Amino acid sequence: MKLVSIVGARPEFVQVAVLSRALRARHRETLVHTGQHYDAGMSGRFFAELEIEPAEIDLNVGSLPASVQTAEIVRRFSGALAQLDADAVIVRGDTNSTLGAAIVAKQHLLPLVHIEAGMRSYDRTAPEEINRLAVDHISDLCLTTDAAAAQRLRAEGVADEAIAVCGDVMYDLFLQVLPGAAAGLPPALAALTERPFVLLTLHRGENVDDRARLASILAGFESAPVPVVFPVHPRTAARLREFGIALPPGFVACEPLGYADMVALESRARTVFTDSGGVQREAYFAGVPCVTLRDATEWTNTIDAGWNRLAGASTGEIRRALLDPPAAPAARPALFGDGDAAQRIVTALESAKMSELVAFYRGVRAARRSA
Ligand code: UD1
Ligand code: UDP
Repeated sequence: MKLVSIVGARPEFVQVAVLSRALRARHRETLVHTGQHYDAGMSGRFFAELEIEPAEIDLNVGSLPASVQTAEIVRRFSGALAQLDADAVIVRGDTNSTLGAAIVAKQHLLPLVHIEAGMRSYDRTAPEEINRLAVDHISDLCLTTDAAAAQRLRAEGVADEAIAVCGDVMYDLFLQVLPGAAAGLPPALAALTERPFVLLTLHRGENVDDRARLASILAGFESAPVPVVFPVHPRTAARLREFGIALPPGFVACEPLGYADMVALESRARTVFTDSGGVQREAYFAGVPCVTLRDATEWTNTIDAGWNRLAGASTGEIRRALLDPPAAPAARPALFGDGDAAQRIVTALESAKMSELVAFYRGVRAARRSA
């Protein structure tokens, strides 16, 4: 099969690392990078570190207001896709790159596969929730990380035959990288991990673009009893500068980290504080309690399992979690598969249903061309 995979933002590079290898063992994959993330530390480093083949096509959209960025992805990907003899398009997650590419795939009459489908935070003010909803409902094949996501899709009217539960490719990668992760930590960070510390990541627009919310979150970490390691997303760095907000004492701020360094810190932290979807899951993979700095999360399974709690932007909740750290529950059920999600995705792509879809859309495209 000739597959076109779209990536554009940091979590997509992490996800494609394992999947591309599995796909390319049996199929032809063309990787398209939208250019939504472009700094070396947000993009190129992951290709090098995780040995991802460079993208054949870079759409170079860069940073733009959300609608304009999505429109540029649509415009440029449409031109690129017209040159590719694709059988299907694969998108993942909930970014503007996901949405833009998904629209183009359907306008080009190609089967669309959505990885990490069926996640819902039920917060329609979050752009990611809109992207998830839209992409799930135009996808031909929805691949979910767990059975609950599949059930959500069915409840929304998605046909059972269009859904497959595959697990989470981020878990596959985490398991592969964890054993050697600490070896490459820069000495200053390695020394820090000898004593208790917490890890913080923050980049959601709802938190960092709102001065009061950002200040309220950071105030929670004033007088933190342990160091707060804080790899700073470029969006957050820009807002901190713009708002003139200084980080509290006790912060160990750094540039965005590589993936293995993140895994090493996540697995050694006393508590992970984050508004990231990926980092919430990785804290669970690592068996480290997580405090999510959002009012709602789509990863409710980690909350139900007792490993994650919502603190919103509450200074008091954050302070409480620092002074009285959440304890690790006794059980950590396999919510994200067994580390073989990439293989299960390949199997779903090789299903009779997928062959039918490829043949059907090929027929429709041919009929339209000859009409
Ligand atoms: C995007 C995704 C979010 C995901 C996150 C992963 C959407 C709607 N949001 O959010 O779901 O969690 O990526 O990190 O797609 N910037 C740089 N250099 C870069 C990239 C970004 O400086 O390489 C700065 C720019 O000022 C840019 C801002 O970060 O305007 C935001 O980037 P953008 O991709 O729009 O959103 P993220 O917050 O990264
Ligand atoms: N990540 C990383 N370096 C960092 C911060 C995050 O490698 O400094 C990784 C993290 O381990 C996870 C992914 O990036 O695998 C999550 O991306 P992000 O938090 O940007 O986006 P989200 O998951 O919220 O969409």
